[in-house]
Amino acid sequence: MKNLATKNALTLLTTLMMAAFASFSHAQGNASAGESKAAVCSACHGNAGQSTIGENPKLAGQNAKYLIKQMQDIKSGARTVPLMTGLLNNSSDQDMADMAAYFAAQEVTLEGADPELVELGESIYKAGIAKLNVAACSACHSPTGQGNPQAGFPALGGQHSQYTINQLKAFRSGERSNDGNPMPMRIVSERLTDKEIEALASYISGLN
Ligand code: HEC
Ligand code: HEC
Repeated sequence: MKNLATKNALTLLTTLMMAAFASFSHAQGNASAGESKAAVCSACHGNAGQSTIGENPKLAGQNAKYLIKQMQDIKSGARTVPLMTGLLNNSSDQDMADMAAYFAAQEVTLEGADPELVELGESIYKAGIAKLNVAACSACHSPTGQGNPQAGFPALGGQHSQYTINQLKAFRSGERSNDGNPMPMRIVSERLTDKEIEALASYISGLN
């Protein structure tokens, strides 16, 4: 019964999220125009969005809808990324849509997951932690980590574990709060321990 209640709550949460994110529309991007506009990004996000620095997210293969929302949030200050301060001030909605289309067209490379952490990470990712009401990540981010491009839920698979750890801790502390209403990531990360976060991040880095 308890599992059923959790499952219903999750279904409701997912439905609310879909509705909230569906209302977010954006310009149609042009990947080849985006390639030259994104040249400046490679210093931190690597060639073709394939960052080699653990703190800097890979953008390759991320869905366009999510990328555009993050760029808008970073530009407006709704999400603080100190290293990108002012960087997008002169980027129009069309520029951001073009860069997003370019990164979305790339394929992300995978990292190797730590074998000692895989089991714990996989179990939380696929089943959540029912007794703590932690939702399964796979419900929104898909079992293969591809995310949900229509809804704009981010792909996670192949991401640097250091970056994923930083994001989960930032959501948990509320330092990152741009996950909208009903705050799916702040709710989900609230009850995760550091060890569970590390296990999830490691599992995700090799997920495909
Ligand atoms: C000086 C380094 C630097 C440059 C240059 C830079 N970024 Fe970033 N960017 C970062 C860092 C660091 C983060 C992650 C910060 C954090 O931990 O939240 C980030 C995050 C992002 C994110 C969020 C990714 C996600 O998965 O949520 C997007 C989108 C992004 N950058 C796009 C761009 C684009 C487009 C450009 C070029 C116009 C660019 N960045 C240039 C350092 C940089
Ligand atoms: C109800 C849906 C939902 C569930 C369940 C969920 N997420 Fe998320 N997650 C989201 C959404 C939506 C975002 C994007 C928020 C935004 O716009 O910034 C996100 C963002 C993230 C990010 C940031 C990605 C990036 O590139 O910066 C990570 C990491 C993440 N989720 C991991 C997880 C993990 C691990 C779990 C399971 C413990 C989980 N999520 C469960 C909806 C969900």
